[in-house]
Amino acid sequence: MKDLSVLIVGGGAGLGALLARMAVENGASKLGIIDINQEAAEAALEPARTKGLPTAAARCDIQVGPQCHAAFDAVAAELGRVDTLINCAAIYPRRPLLEITDAEWDASNGINIKGTYHMMVAAVRHMQDQAPKGEVRGRIVNLTSVDAFKAHPQNAHYAATKAAVVSLTRSFAHHVAKDGILVNSVAPAGMATERAKALGFLEELAKASPLGRGAKPTEIAEWVLMAGSEKNTYMTGENIIVSGGYIYA
Ligand SMILES: NC(=O)c1ccc[n+]([C@@H]2O[C@H](COP(=O)([O-])OP(=O)(O)OC[C@H]3O[C@@H](n4cnc5c(N)ncnc54)[C@H](O)[C@@H]3O)[C@@H](O)[C@H]2O)c1
Repeated sequence: MKDLSVLIVGGGAGLGALLARMAVENGASKLGIIDINQEAAEAALEPARTKGLPTAAARCDIQVGPQCHAAFDAVAAELGRVDTLINCAAIYPRRPLLEITDAEWDASNGINIKGTYHMMVAAVRHMQDQAPKGEVRGRIVNLTSVDAFKAHPQNAHYAATKAAVVSLTRSFAHHVAKDGILVNSVAPAGMATERAKALGFLEELAKASPLGRGAKPTEIAEWVLMAGSEKNTYMTGENIIVSGGYIYA
């Protein structure tokens, strides 16, 4: 992430907070975090602040388009530039397939699909106006899930939202390729973030994994950073599946 200004949506906890720390360790020059939990966002900026880097945080419920644009624009104005946007915010509740309510659909669609969409729109508008570094004007990395490609009756609404994000990733990648903006997604299998541990499904996923274990969040973060880093100059519209072989199980 050398000399890149990185903005992480959903960076207040879990993989997003880890990405914030690893981005700084990997040379990011500026760090922004947007999250519904402002206190958590501020806390996740600590590694960057300790290093003396410029930082910015904004609170936002990404289900609401105008909030997304206001938060993105505020952070971008403070940092001056956003080279890499990472969309990490999502919810992943479980519900038996035949019992998903309208409210549950609306929440999952609103956060996982619509929130990711609004943040990509805000980022694209910003990136289209900034000078390229080399041949790349900006990079977007969305978190999807291996569930998008598997039968997942335990959380079919979640799996469907992540399949939608794979699709959105392709459409955006195609639309902004001419601008030198690279848009990709990373699809993990179960990984041991605090939220995933609390929900209690990791053991079941580890048993189903050919490797016999879930991922450490760092093992997923490395691929997210790769897709969002200066090392990626040619990959766009791709979905990188990092599932320990679960995709084929
Ligand atoms: N943990 C897993 O097993 C796993 C597996 C596959 C994919 N993923 C994906 O990886 C990403 C990160 O997962 P995690 O386990 O770190 O999640 P997490 O719940 O630990 O963190 C999600 C963050 O998003 C924020 N957020 C939630 N709703 C929001 C909203 N409406 N507006 C703004 N911010 C909001 C939360 O405050 C939190 O900081 C998600 O996209 C998830 O779907 C996770």
